[in-house]
Amino acid sequence: MHVVVTGGAGFLGTRLCRTLLTNSALSVAGAPEVRIDRLTVLDRTATVPDVLDDSRVAASTADLLDAGSADRHPVDDADVVFHLAAAVSGECELDFDLGMRTNLDGTRALLHRCRASRRTPVVVFASSLAVFGSAAGYPLPPVVTDQTLPVPQTSYGIQKLVCEQLLADYTRKGFLRGRSVRLPTVSVRPGRPNTAASSYLSAIIREPLTGQRAECPVAPDVPAAICSPDRAIGGLLRAATAGPDEWGPPIAVNLPAITVTAAQMVSALGEIAGADVAALVDWHRDEALASIIEGWPSRVRSDRATRLGLQPDENLEAIVRAHIGEMQ
Ligand SMILES: NC(=O)c1ccc[n+]([C@@H]2O[C@H](COP(=O)([O-])OP(=O)(O)OC[C@H]3O[C@@H](n4cnc5c(N)ncnc54)[C@H](O)[C@@H]3O)[C@@H](O)[C@H]2O)c1
Repeated sequence: MHVVVTGGAGFLGTRLCRTLLTNSALSVAGAPEVRIDRLTVLDRTATVPDVLDDSRVAASTADLLDAGSADRHPVDDADVVFHLAAAVSGECELDFDLGMRTNLDGTRALLHRCRASRRTPVVVFASSLAVFGSAAGYPLPPVVTDQTLPVPQTSYGIQKLVCEQLLADYTRKGFLRGRSVRLPTVSVRPGRPNTAASSYLSAIIREPLTGQRAECPVAPDVPAAICSPDRAIGGLLRAATAGPDEWGPPIAVNLPAITVTAAQMVSALGEIAGADVAALVDWHRDEALASIIEGWPSRVRSDRATRLGLQPDENLEAIVRAHIGEMQ
């Protein structure tokens, strides 16, 4: 079996590649497990060494829009494509053209090549709860469900929603088998802060744990929907393995999430790592960021994901402890 992971050099993509390589086999759309012979990482940045060192891995280091050539593309003989490459929310708000090029044109080019392969690959698309928002006459309900009408209020959210719909139409036409998974904010993201509006949901845990100060751009009582990296990877894999009847219509599935406020996160950090560590968080409201974050849903009911056996994280403390475990 050949698996392609776009964005496979990023945070979740790297974890997904490691998990696929460790598992060595994958059941696709309800079929029996098949050995993974090849895994191609399609990313414009370099694949991390431990993934690249695996003899089953090939790197296609290119932009989504320049990958492959007219007669050869990494997805030509792919059985499964995990599509994670994307520009993140903050940068899409700052640079409209970047978001449109990467998230919309790049996805369309990828789907076009999947269709041309005539192999009807399973394509798992990493969408986002950022497809939800409030507009005049369309208030965000207190809890979003799989049936809630998405009314995105950011360029990133709009691009994700358009791609979900493209995937649904390519599926309806029989060109591929699309599975869109709406991820909540994944925390704790290791490494450096990124330009996602939700970056603070990792920074306020990650930075203090290494003795650095972190800024929280929203008020302490602002809630957010989060899941751990492990639950996010579990959701993406389950989307690939679910049989057609289990998955249901080609409409996006909301992943389960827990709802936490910034204050609860800092309090959990204090309980686990000490009050002096929690005191490294500074509270400075950033109007532009706060208005994006406060427009996102913070409570999710994920009936379809639950039926697929997916569960939210146990609690916030487990997420913080898992991150500390990885640091060691
Ligand atoms: N991390 C989260 O909290 C979260 C939440 C919701 C949805 N998502 C979605 O999950 C996916 C993975 O997120 P992540 O946190 O790992 O992001 P990331 O930024 O760490 O990784 C994205 C990868 O995509 C690559 N990429 C970007 N533009 C590209 C292009 N034009 N051509 C080729 N490669 C390109 C980047 O080099 C990077 O390695 C994204 O689609 C993101 O929108 C993430």
